[in-house]
Amino acid sequence: MKYEQKNPVPIPPTGKYQEVEATIGTVFDWEYSLRKQNLLTLFEKGKALNWNASDLDWDTDVSIERIMAERSAAGAGDVMNNVMNPPKKMTDKEMIELQLNMNGFMLSQFLHGEQGALLATAKIVQTVPWEEAKFYAANQVMDEARHVEVYHRYLTEKLGLSYEVHPSLQTLLGDIISDSRWDVTFLGMQIMVEGLALAAFGMMRMMMAGEPLIQDITSRIMADESRHVAFGVMTLDKLYTEEMSGNELREREEFVIEATHLLRERLLMTQVFERLGWDVPLWTEWAKEMPFMVGFRQMTFSKIVPNLKRLGLLTPRVRAAYEKMDLLRFEHMKDSVEEPEPTPPTELVQILMQFLAEGPKNGEAVVPGAAAR
Ligand SMILES: [Fe+2]
Ligand SMILES: [Fe+2]
Repeated sequence: MKYEQKNPVPIPPTGKYQEVEATIGTVFDWEYSLRKQNLLTLFEKGKALNWNASDLDWDTDVSIERIMAERSAAGAGDVMNNVMNPPKKMTDKEMIELQLNMNGFMLSQFLHGEQGALLATAKIVQTVPWEEAKFYAANQVMDEARHVEVYHRYLTEKLGLSYEVHPSLQTLLGDIISDSRWDVTFLGMQIMVEGLALAAFGMMRMMMAGEPLIQDITSRIMADESRHVAFGVMTLDKLYTEEMSGNELREREEFVIEATHLLRERLLMTQVFERLGWDVPLWTEWAKEMPFMVGFRQMTFSKIVPNLKRLGLLTPRVRAAYEKMDLLRFEHMKDSVEEPEPTPPTELVQILMQFLAEGPKNGEAVVPGAAAR
């Protein structure tokens, strides 16, 4: 594997290496009872569905500028100004810059989240008590290394624009890695971070209709991620409803609420407006209030909420916090066992379709992402 890093990923203020201290109990399973058939089936699936990042078409000419320029030539700029209602009327050039940087920002956070997943899953191999869960976690470790590889290559070789890890995501990943309780690693990574990523990937695939390489990457990664989220749901099954004391459960509720706040913050994209040299408070306020962005941020919880419910973690305390954030609207949606891939809310898809429909005859590329759900 060799590729040209035309534009290396920026380093966060904390430096290029970050050491996180953790005291964890590494568990041998000498019984090898392999009782959890669903995990063994998932392991078989994971092995069969392995893919190689080198097989992707890296010769694809990726030009987000071109795609966006074509879209704005077809009138998308007017839609952007009318539908998205920015604080000031945007020129086509500004719209292209914003889109390019938003993509770079989102894909960079995906990359950093993938590194977190790689480390968290390696830790799960050590800490989870059952051998069959260790098997699957080992399979996931390989998936995550490949995801880091793919996003890194795309960002540095193809997009040429990337961002350092968002401080909120960095905090959450550090918390997940340093926690000594094995189930909290699952809860933080497989249920929260990967649940959010799965939904966000779906949106990225729709927004980037017309760019075949990212379509291919995203579809492959989403297929892997849906197994990872299912791994979390299967492993934590009944743990919170039948095996935990009130105090232990309370700690998990706190963790879920805190993780939710951190994940929401990381979606505000303040760093994008900083880099563009735009009025940061003004544009951040816009990103906070604009219906599409509000919808997008909420949509990223569309898999997390039903999964928490399935695990018995949508307790009165968590419900009260989620009520305030208007996230309970997803509680009746299908969880990852019933439906592995997320379904974006109809109203959000409509806004996005309106925006993209003005683009250069790529409606057919947009529809499969939306229609597949
Ligand atoms: Fe991943
Ligand atoms: Fe994953």
